[in-house]
Amino acid sequence: MKDYVFFPITEPSLIPNLLNDLSYQLQQLDFPQRVEYEPIADCLQDDFPNVNWKEISLKFDQLGEIAVVKLDSTSVPDSFRQRVGELILSRYPRLKTVLNKRDIIEGTERVYPTEHLAGEKIWGSWHQEYGVFIFVDLKRAYFNPRLAEEHHRVAMSGIQGEKILDLFTGVGPFALHCAKRFSCNVTAIDINPFAIKALQKSIARNKLQGDIHPIIGDSQRILRLRNYFDRIIINLPQKSINFLPYATKLLKKGGIVTFYQFISKSMNPIEDIRKLVKTKLGKVNSYKELYIKVGREISPSKLQMNIDLQID
Ligand SMILES: C[S@@+](CC[C@H](N)C(=O)[O-])C[C@H]1O[C@@H](n2cnc3c(N)ncnc32)[C@H](O)[C@@H]1O
Repeated sequence: MKDYVFFPITEPSLIPNLLNDLSYQLQQLDFPQRVEYEPIADCLQDDFPNVNWKEISLKFDQLGEIAVVKLDSTSVPDSFRQRVGELILSRYPRLKTVLNKRDIIEGTERVYPTEHLAGEKIWGSWHQEYGVFIFVDLKRAYFNPRLAEEHHRVAMSGIQGEKILDLFTGVGPFALHCAKRFSCNVTAIDINPFAIKALQKSIARNKLQGDIHPIIGDSQRILRLRNYFDRIIINLPQKSINFLPYATKLLKKGGIVTFYQFISKSMNPIEDIRKLVKTKLGKVNSYKELYIKVGREISPSKLQMNIDLQID
């Protein structure tokens, strides 16, 4: 059953004409009736009538078997938050755990503090993006599923045989997407040993076309290579821009640097980031902008910019 695609039909007699020589099977299957749940916000309103649940975001990210919500502990007290966790678990049987993302991310490793709300006490899980398995360890290493499209975009623009450097690889989503899609050689560095341990697990789990060399260390210190890489990925968005001059030294002529940078919201964030890039690179390198996008909103005052530059 696993390798079949099922199409629901109501008129089996039309199928032979429609599919001609294509092989198919007709099957009668009984599906469990779909349960129509009352919206979570309505259930919560019944349980806690003094809270305006419609004003509180109950959206969550799903990372494998873990759901991650973001509930402010000052406006949503303990017992309320736990109830949110229990309700989410009861609706989504594939989930095992609900965690709450607390506060802002701090520290070099960029791990966000989490609070366990419901289900099993697990922080590690297999997450899937575009057919790539990524082991996430939310207690000890950074991962953000909202970057999935970027991981995929970068991998789709790669060329066979490329040498890639992922300077702040975390649990390795960029490295894994690239090595899954095409034959390449990826050096993946992170200062957090737990992130690299998770990446090693993912390397073992995926059938990769390319090679990934995971390294634990400070990416500013351990590389002595010059003009070596075809592409460099810099995803440390508080300060990626500061690494541009360093990265361009490691890059071959005509190589590409992909980077992510936070920037204050303004009328024209694209022009703002272009000016910043110019201050970092303008005097030394000539470069061409291949891709620029206003990415996700980080806070009411901050955006992430996604950029590819070709460096000559
Ligand atoms: C924002 S996360 C990005 C992770 C990954 N690229 C991703 O997209 O999921 C930044 C990562 O940089 C790592 N990091 C911070 N400073 C570092 C340094 N000096 N050298 C190597 N890694 C560093 C952190 O441990 C963290 O995993």
